[in-house]
Amino acid sequence: MFEQTPGLMDEIRGRFAHVDSCPFQGDRVFFENAGGALTLNSVVETTTKFAAIPDNQGRDNPAAHALVDIINRAKADMRVLFNAPEGQFFVGESGTELLFRLIRAACIGTRGGGRVLGTTLEHPASRSAARQWSEIAGQTHVLVAHDDATGSVDPAHYAPEITPDTRVATILHTSPVTGMGVDVGAIARKIRETAPDCYIIVDGIQHAAHGRLDIQSYGIDGYVISPYKCFSRHGYGVAWVSDRLAQMPHDHLMGAPGEPWELGTRDTGAYATFSDVVAYFDWLGGRFSDSDDRRTRIEAAGRAIHEHETALTDAMLHGTGNLAGLADIPGIGVIGGIDNPRREGLVSITVDGVPAAEVVSRLNAQGIRTHTRKADHYSGNILDPLGLDSCIRVSLCHYNTTDEVARFLTAIREIAESAA
Ligand SMILES: Cc1ncc(COP(=O)(O)O)c(C=O)c1O
Repeated sequence: MFEQTPGLMDEIRGRFAHVDSCPFQGDRVFFENAGGALTLNSVVETTTKFAAIPDNQGRDNPAAHALVDIINRAKADMRVLFNAPEGQFFVGESGTELLFRLIRAACIGTRGGGRVLGTTLEHPASRSAARQWSEIAGQTHVLVAHDDATGSVDPAHYAPEITPDTRVATILHTSPVTGMGVDVGAIARKIRETAPDCYIIVDGIQHAAHGRLDIQSYGIDGYVISPYKCFSRHGYGVAWVSDRLAQMPHDHLMGAPGEPWELGTRDTGAYATFSDVVAYFDWLGGRFSDSDDRRTRIEAAGRAIHEHETALTDAMLHGTGNLAGLADIPGIGVIGGIDNPRREGLVSITVDGVPAAEVVSRLNAQGIRTHTRKADHYSGNILDPLGLDSCIRVSLCHYNTTDEVARFLTAIREIAESAA
């Protein structure tokens, strides 16, 4: 846990903007990381720098050459962070937009019958894209039910619906409502046992900030993240496509060389800020590994992040110091079970007798930022089967501290007791 290394927590927090105060609210604990993680200071600086540069790429002048070099460096950095030696990376408008583009290409490229397979765990981005484009492509969209008890999904849930004509499949890496991760590699392997040529597209948007990205080991064709949920800024998404998905028909300029997926002039600043993200993982990993190899350091960062976040969620669930944890506060319900090894830095709860929106507002009044998830088109897929109309999502990242957890536990206990 980071707090056991003297000074490390301060060093980590010193690298992020607005760590303990909000420009609109003042002092606050940030437990709304699943809605958008804190931004690296380096990303803020890089954004300012590139916002001022008027030059375009593809010209014969020093600025244009520098911009192209920066984009190419960012793509090389992405290869290391995601561990994807093949295929290509590109940025688009948002994670949602990129999921639509990848799923559309996969469905249209395999059109005329067959099945598009996903699960009810998925965010509406991939579910909506699969529904819309399977219909247009003359395919059947099948959604298998996830497991309410674990808040996740396994190869066994996909298995009964995997047919030899399953042409496209979607997988959610981590749920933004339950906070539980999914074994992407195991599901992809299960799909390929029966449908070896299936195009498999993964929504990694909620997983990325928690480290441990390893595309090469998954056996998939597409992976999408939203960088503002991974320490960069709003305004772009990042996608990876396998070489075979890259060749599927997709929007691009006629006659452009290669299989380009970028549309129009690229935002060099977006790419540059992603290099800042990779440099941060590298720096953090260097605190846990002596290796000269960047990927090894990034893997070390992923393990350390997971360990720290698990310690924080354990403190939240089981208590810290003399404070009781959520598991022991009467009237609190925890979605996905208490001790769930799939948890990635997120705890979604209910408080008996207090509507979720009121809990979030009372926490906000005490300077603790969380979020209400309602049984709407975003989260109804998870909450409806549980008979819940809403829940309180408390989402952490590795820069959060045990003191912040303690502040939250004190506040939530008061709220739960006020309704008892
Ligand atoms: C798992 C998941 N997928 C997709 C999205 C949509 O991402 P964006 O709004 O960045 O396009 C989100 C946003 O919360 C998400 O958590």
